[in-house]
Amino acid sequence: MRLFLLFSFSALMLHEAYGFTDEPDRKALLDLKSQVSEDKQDVLSSWNNSSPLCNWKGVTCGLKHKRVTRLDLGGCQLRGMISPSIGNLSFLISLNLSDNSIGGTIPYEVGNLFRLKYLNMSFNILGGEIPVNLFNCSRLLDLDLWHNHLGGGVPSELESLEKLEILDLSANNLRGKLPASLGNLTSLMRAEFSENNLEGKVPDDLARWTQLVYLGLGTNKFSGGFPPYIYNFSSLEYLDMFGNGFSGSLKPDFGNLLPKLRNLNMGINSFTGPIPTTLSNISNLQVLGIYQNKMTGSIPLSFGKLKNLQKLRLHNNSLGSYSSGDLDFLKALSNCTQLHILLVNRNRLGGDLPTSITNLSTNLWKLDLGTNSISGTIPYGIGNLVSLQKLVLRENLLTGPLPSSIGKLSRLVLLNLTSNRISGEIPSSIGNITWLEKLYLSNNSFEGTIPHSLGQCKYILYLYIGSNKLNGTIPQEIMQIQSLVGLDLSNNSLTGTSMHTVCCA
Ligand SMILES: *[C@@H]1O[C@H](CO)[C@@H](O)[C@H](O)[C@H]1NC(C)=O
Ligand SMILES: *[C@@H]1O[C@H](CO)[C@@H](O)[C@H](O)[C@H]1NC(C)=O
Ligand SMILES: *[C@@H]1O[C@H](CO)[C@@H](O)[C@H](O)[C@H]1NC(C)=O
Ligand SMILES: *[C@@H]1O[C@H](CO)[C@@H](O)[C@H](O)[C@H]1NC(C)=O
Ligand SMILES: *[C@@H]1O[C@H](CO)[C@@H](O)[C@H](O)[C@H]1NC(C)=O
Ligand SMILES: *[C@@H]1O[C@H](CO)[C@@H](O)[C@H](O)[C@H]1NC(C)=O
Ligand SMILES: *[C@@H]1O[C@H](CO)[C@@H](O)[C@H](O)[C@H]1NC(C)=O
Ligand SMILES: *[C@@H]1O[C@H](CO)[C@@H](O)[C@H](O)[C@H]1NC(C)=O
Ligand SMILES: *[C@@H]1O[C@H](CO)[C@@H](O)[C@H](O)[C@H]1NC(C)=O
Ligand SMILES: *[C@@H]1O[C@H](CO)[C@@H](O)[C@H](O)[C@H]1NC(C)=O
Ligand SMILES: *[C@@H]1O[C@H](CO)[C@@H](O)[C@H](O)[C@H]1NC(C)=O
Ligand SMILES: *[C@@H]1O[C@H](CO)[C@@H](O)[C@H](O)[C@H]1NC(C)=O
Repeated sequence: MRLFLLFSFSALMLHEAYGFTDEPDRKALLDLKSQVSEDKQDVLSSWNNSSPLCNWKGVTCGLKHKRVTRLDLGGCQLRGMISPSIGNLSFLISLNLSDNSIGGTIPYEVGNLFRLKYLNMSFNILGGEIPVNLFNCSRLLDLDLWHNHLGGGVPSELESLEKLEILDLSANNLRGKLPASLGNLTSLMRAEFSENNLEGKVPDDLARWTQLVYLGLGTNKFSGGFPPYIYNFSSLEYLDMFGNGFSGSLKPDFGNLLPKLRNLNMGINSFTGPIPTTLSNISNLQVLGIYQNKMTGSIPLSFGKLKNLQKLRLHNNSLGSYSSGDLDFLKALSNCTQLHILLVNRNRLGGDLPTSITNLSTNLWKLDLGTNSISGTIPYGIGNLVSLQKLVLRENLLTGPLPSSIGKLSRLVLLNLTSNRISGEIPSSIGNITWLEKLYLSNNSFEGTIPHSLGQCKYILYLYIGSNKLNGTIPQEIMQIQSLVGLDLSNNSLTGTSMHTVCCA
């Protein structure tokens, strides 16, 4: 009994001696709580005076001093604003407010949190500018402000966060140029600026970011050539330059210089010249996009070496030379068993469609070879590509029939063969494509009657089969498809109803 008393007494003494050290944190957190509301109501209710501060949900204390070191309120459905009292949590090392609906501005007082290493305010609706005081948090390793409404420029003072490894400012309203001083952030591994209104040349000083693994510049207004120092970032795994005004050609040894790339997106720019064949040396490449540029030359056969390739998007360029051989790459791609998406439409590809397309990955769900000058016939084996959801061969020079094996593509949602010279009957097996929504066969030489089986495609929205040589009566079954919003049977020799033109609303 005596022992117990003694013990309690000394515990009390200790508490007294330290004068309720958690008091400033308690006050600050309760003030923080008073500025937000919680849709889920299951975190902040534990922030009350009847339970010890260090047991509050989302709160972690230091072992010795019992001061708040981590505050994790990520994904708590909080609304409201961040109280300036946040700056009183002076032992804070990690602050996570991401994935809420917090508005207002980032309070200057965050700059007092000099111990802070991790700051995540991503996925909120924070406005105003990035406060310069924030750059007093010189121990910061991760700064994530992704997906807010932050405006103004990228502050040059950011350079004082010299330990920074992750900087994510993407999906905000930031404008102006990237300041040269950012080059001082030599520990950066991840730099994300995409989806802003940033402009001008990417400064040469960024050459010092040699540790970079991830660089996002996409969806801005950057211009100039491919920054030559990026070829020095040999650890780079992710490069997004999509949707800017970059121009000029790419180094022939691109792929040998950046051998660790997994995801390369350079779509929607003004790049010119040939696709570097060395890209095929990047053994882990999964996503390659150079669409909507001004690329010329051929599509490298060596892409067949990219065993991990999932998405190849080269559409809207000037690839090919309207001659046979342009499609040889398709044969090589049969070794890319992970391929999901292959888009090479709107180029200058000529020659006959090779039967080898039937050996493409059975994982392929989107294939677009449209708006080229491809001749020859559609091979019977097209039915092997059983995962296809979108097949577009429109605006080419294809002849011969549409093979009945098309009915095996049961997941097909879109089939667009418009404007070719395809002849023969529309195969009745089309009725087996249960999920078909859009069937575009106009402007070909289809003949014979419209198959009754089309009535089985009960999700059809658009049925465009005008300008062919179809005859006979229009099947009742088609008129009974409930989902139909667009129908064109015009310029055929059909009889039976008066619906010979584009219709429906
Ligand atoms: C935060 O600290 C400041 C300065 O020490 C003090 O004036 C203020 O009252 C504190 N806020 C709270 C909520 O404790
Ligand atoms: C205070 O928090 C505890 C959990 O820490 C909870 O059980 C209790 O219901 C809360 N009290 C109030 C009044 O919300
Ligand atoms: C921050 O919160 C988000 C959302 O809940 C979570 O995904 C992330 O892992 C958290 N980060 C840390 C360091 O706890
Ligand atoms: C910040 O939180 C988001 C989730 O909301 C998460 O996706 C992201 O990875 C986090 N950032 C960092 C640097 O941990
Ligand atoms: C940040 O540091 C500057 C000096 O570098 C100082 O004037 C300012 O008061 C500090 N701000 C905060 C919020 O600590
Ligand atoms: C930061 O970068 C700028 C521009 O590149 C340079 O002039 C300055 O000396 C650098 N500061 C430090 C501390 O390295
Ligand atoms: C690339 O790195 C090499 C060796 O470190 C260096 O000499 C060269 O100047 C760098 N190139 C660019 C464009 O920064
Ligand atoms: C890289 O690719 C080129 C052309 O595809 C090839 O000639 C060269 O040998 C490859 N280099 C390496 C290091 O694999
Ligand atoms: C596919 O890979 C095999 C073995 O790796 C190779 O022998 C063959 O030539 C490749 N085929 C094509 C079309 O590249
Ligand atoms: C199908 O191709 C035609 C002709 O090029 C085009 O007008 C139409 O928009 C395309 N439809 C779809 C859904 O791709
Ligand atoms: C449609 O599929 C069934 C089996 O699901 C098959 O028996 C039939 O032959 C197919 N119809 C056509 C016209 O290919
Ligand atoms: C429909 O056209 C085919 C040839 O395209 C012809 O053999 C057949 O007699 C025609 N049928 C009718 C009813 O006009």
